Amino acid sequence: MARIHLLLSSLVLLLSVPSEAWRPWPNSTTTTGDAAAFTESKRYEGSSEFVDLKYHMGPVLSSQINIYTIWYGAWPLRHRSVIKDFLLSLSPSTGGAVSSPSVSDWWRTVRLYTDQTGANVSGNVNVASEHFDVGYSQGKSLTRLSVQRIIREAVKASKGALPVDPKNGIYLVLTAEDVRMQDFCRAVCGFHYFTFPSIVGYTLPYAWIGSSTVQCPEVCAYPFAIPSYMGRSSGPMHPPNGAVGIDGMVSVVAHELAELASNPLVNAWYAGEDPTSPTEIADLCEGVYGTGGGGGYTGRVMVDGRGRHYNVNGRGGRKFLVQWVWSPVKKACSGPNALD
Ligand SMILES: *[C@@H]1O[C@H](CO)[C@@H](O)[C@H](O)[C@H]1NC(C)=O
Ligand SMILES: *[C@@H]1O[C@H](CO)[C@@H](O)[C@H](O)[C@H]1NC(C)=O
Repeated sequence: MARIHLLLSSLVLLLSVPSEAWRPWPNSTTTTGDAAAFTESKRYEGSSEFVDLKYHMGPVLSSQINIYTIWYGAWPLRHRSVIKDFLLSLSPSTGGAVSSPSVSDWWRTVRLYTDQTGANVSGNVNVASEHFDVGYSQGKSLTRLSVQRIIREAVKASKGALPVDPKNGIYLVLTAEDVRMQDFCRAVCGFHYFTFPSIVGYTLPYAWIGSSTVQCPEVCAYPFAIPSYMGRSSGPMHPPNGAVGIDGMVSVVAHELAELASNPLVNAWYAGEDPTSPTEIADLCEGVYGTGGGGGYTGRVMVDGRGRHYNVNGRGGRKFLVQWVWSPVKKACSGPNALD
């Protein structure tokens, strides 16, 4: 009896702790001074602690969300269209029906977050407009602050400028495969923050995500590429759109969007006592794509007739593999392809 009781109580304990979030970061001991001032896609090592995700009284994106995409550098159309189809799939389909589990079903977990007025994150995600910085206005080797200068150029451009939309807008800066970024691959695959009036003239929530087509697919496009030290026992998964680096990038885009919506000014939903290094709703579930996932195991996902791995459906028959996010209702990582 005692043993059974012990077993049961440890089971209860197991169920109330998160899956261990995971990404195969290369080992590194150095961090740059300002790294902590940004909220980035990062590893979470909270497997033995209770998650103390808290609301800090700031706003969430509760009215229509307008996504403004800035394509920085040379972006092939076939890669852009994968990412754009993902963004267009976030809102429930108006045209042909998308079968479950869908990208908009995935967004439902993000919509569970509310602000102090009780308003939920919006389900109305509009892919508003895009801007092309084909001339690499800030060069090919960027710092975190140069992302804000890219946004300044995009809203002030004489041709094809993006609107300034501090109420509803989020700005996605997506850099091409030949663009280097401070800490990319070593400590971040993407990050989000908000712009400073001193640089851009406005406070605009934004995210940066880099293409991992040639730079570190084994880190930022995991599990479609795996580090050599992990051996060949399992092998990489097959990307649903046939592009390792871009299919991997889609999950990082999803990660940053979920966090932007629930923590746009970095004063709403996060765990941890240190606001300069918050652990947010997607950090908690990094690397978890299905039931049973965590600690390097992706969890149960689907395989199509051509052997390609995915967990959500999008518009036009597209499929994507996106990480789960933390549900404030289930107090666990959650996604629409859950088996239970
Ligand atoms: C990182 O460190 C861990 C534990 O010390 C080790 O098992 C792993 O092989 C290291 N990875 C690399 C890329 O050096
Ligand atoms: C809004 O959030 C609350 C609290 O998480 C949840 O119970 C409710 O279902 C959410 N509404 C929508 C439309 O998602």
